[in-house]
Amino acid sequence: MAQLGLGMASLGRPGYINLGHGQDLKHDYSIESVRRNAFKVLNKAWQSGIRHFDVARSYGRAEEFVSQWISDKSITPHDITVSSKWGYTYTAAWKVQTPEGVAHEVKRHELPVLQRQYATSLRHLGDHLKIYQIHSATSESGVLKNQAVLEFLGRIRQTGMLIGLSVSGPTQSETIEEALTLEVNGERLFQSIQATWNLLERSAEPALQKAHDHGLKVIIKESVANGRLTSRNQCPNFHSKKQQLRQLARNHQSTIDAISIAAAMNRPWADVVLSGATTTAQVESNIMANTLQWDEKLECQTSKFVEAPTDYWHSRAQLTWN
Ligand SMILES: NC(=O)c1ccc[n+]([C@@H]2O[C@H](COP(=O)([O-])OP(=O)(O)OC[C@H]3O[C@@H](n4cnc5c(N)ncnc54)[C@H](OP(=O)(O)O)[C@@H]3O)[C@@H](O)[C@H]2O)c1
Repeated sequence: MAQLGLGMASLGRPGYINLGHGQDLKHDYSIESVRRNAFKVLNKAWQSGIRHFDVARSYGRAEEFVSQWISDKSITPHDITVSSKWGYTYTAAWKVQTPEGVAHEVKRHELPVLQRQYATSLRHLGDHLKIYQIHSATSESGVLKNQAVLEFLGRIRQTGMLIGLSVSGPTQSETIEEALTLEVNGERLFQSIQATWNLLERSAEPALQKAHDHGLKVIIKESVANGRLTSRNQCPNFHSKKQQLRQLARNHQSTIDAISIAAAMNRPWADVVLSGATTTAQVESNIMANTLQWDEKLECQTSKFVEAPTDYWHSRAQLTWN
């Protein structure tokens, strides 16, 4: 069974796209309050046995928070895995809503961005940083054909860092397939892949199985569909699925989010499943996945929730920053 990790996308900044981010932060957006909340969630995750933490240069102050927390707790590199990502720059200036025309994060998959962001990530995280990922690589962005970027990643790899990429959207599988073909100095470049898989969107499964078969570490993100696979989802279109999930959760003395996370943890090709918990209560609920006995019956009962990938990613695109 895959291990649980903690993703910091919602913990390092005041605004995020999940359903109730503002509520989680009690609408208190000062840097100190957001940091305090992040430390509480990090502590809860650590006490619950979580040892993998995922950040990115664009998650506001996430790298800085994790670095301070590691230092406060004197955690040695041996005891923790931190993964980070380069390619997006945080541009929201600690605002929940940005002014019209100003993005929350700007994507540029170019060598100078990689060089600048890698230096910053290393400065924050040092030897605790074990995996460095291209943030949301796509075939269209051209990053997988950018020889200068690939060679620089090859050099980072020689230092012992695992080189990875994260993927998103309906073309995740194609990007994974393309990434698997890439070599630098006669060696496969990528050693890790982070992708979306959840009960609503399972289309990357064959590509992720292949990545696993090639020896890549597979990290699942968005295992509760950004909050849609939780009791918080009030969307009328989801009502019937929610009723069924709630019944399953009751039958197993569990929660909807834990059932969804357990489904991801029980993919035979998965190594890590990221919890995106924003509060300690959400960590407590999410980690119930660890003790859920997954069996054929649950596999069958949960297989019917899947959506067409285009519908899934269309709904995902409707989520607003809050
Ligand atoms: N392209 C990429 O590389 C990429 C993209 C996305 C994510 N990621 C990584 O994956 C991690 C997880 O992704 P994610 O947070 O976007 O998606 P997720 O894990 O599917 O969703 C997490 C959200 O679900 C809600 N939630 C969780 N447990 C809950 C509960 N018990 N009750 C009510 N709501 C609950 C919370 O949202 P509310 O705000 O509504 O409370 C929480 O922030 C990120 O932190 C990041 O590390 C990477």
